[in-house]
Amino acid sequence: QAQAILLGIETSCDETAAALVVREQSGRGIIRSNVVRSQFEEHAPFGGVVPELAARAHVEWLDHIVAQALAEAGISLEEVDAIAATAGPGLIGGVLVGLTTAKALAASLGKPLLAVNHLEGHALTARLTDGIEFPYLMLLVSGGHSQFVLVRGVGEYERWGGTIDDALGEAFDKVAKLLSLGTPGGPAVERMALAGDPRRFRFPRPLLREERLDFSFSGLKTAVRLQAEALAPLSEADVADIAAGFQAAVTDIVAVRSGQALDRFASELPGVVPQLVIAGGVAANRAIAAALAEVAKIAGARLVVPPIGLCTDNGAMIAWAGAERFALGAVDRLDVEARPRWPL
Ligand code: KG4
Ligand code: ZN
Repeated sequence: QAQAILLGIETSCDETAAALVVREQSGRGIIRSNVVRSQFEEHAPFGGVVPELAARAHVEWLDHIVAQALAEAGISLEEVDAIAATAGPGLIGGVLVGLTTAKALAASLGKPLLAVNHLEGHALTARLTDGIEFPYLMLLVSGGHSQFVLVRGVGEYERWGGTIDDALGEAFDKVAKLLSLGTPGGPAVERMALAGDPRRFRFPRPLLREERLDFSFSGLKTAVRLQAEALAPLSEADVADIAAGFQAAVTDIVAVRSGQALDRFASELPGVVPQLVIAGGVAANRAIAAALAEVAKIAGARLVVPPIGLCTDNGAMIAWAGAERFALGAVDRLDVEARPRWPL
């Protein structure tokens, strides 16, 4: 395969992002630029992402972000070999902004278009950052998704389980809101948890006794709410102890499930060294990352945690997923549709 330069565009949630990634002939990926503009400030007053505001901010910023990504990479649009953009799943207004921009660029430049599944972007990132070989298990834990996916190859994904209600990052965000810790919730809960006693409250670990590789966080969230209401008004120590108890519960849940998933890996792929890749913003949580490192060690598995800036939403992961598909000869038609829902 010849070297290819990909422009990647990501607009499926509250990050306006563009990147230039080179896939070398050897299959190695190089990030030439990776520009992410968070819409945190726009949504902060509302305590969550407002889809209409997100779409408008993507419209306002995307051209600038693409221009900046090209400038930082020192690559001109004419030198780009193909344009990749997230085509779903995500907030449809934002997805349309990115995908339509990519279509316009592809049409006007006469370059191929790759309509990328956002989840595929997360799933293939570890090949860009760590050169990991197939097969491997991905645990995606973000604000919008929580799932185990067996990645056998480009386009070969098996969903082994996932959340039946809230995503893990969403649970962190809701608990943060409940404890008036502000947004983004995950880092705030983690900070408070450091000061708290994780044993004062024993919160439930839903589904943990069951064999299936699914998560459920809404019952846990309710237990946290009821505890907070029972203690109100909360002292600083109460808040810290609740945060610590919640984090201990989710850490347990994620660790036990990941251990079970690695067991399944070992039994379904005998003789293959198990590999676990983490994706999504919750990968930034040190307690969870430490627990996963322990689980991987016990299972004799290799754990890959890409740099956090590439675990969260970004354009490089979309460019790279596009590059991997492009290298296999895949391209999409200019009338490809945006998809609010799109399982891997
Ligand atoms: O992947 P991401 O940036 O966005 C998507 O949802 O696609 O993930 C953001 C999520 C938020 O829910 C945020 O609260 C959570 O990741 N998060 C954390 C931490 N940092 C971010 N959760 C727990 N601990 C953290 N340190
Ligand atoms: Zn994401």
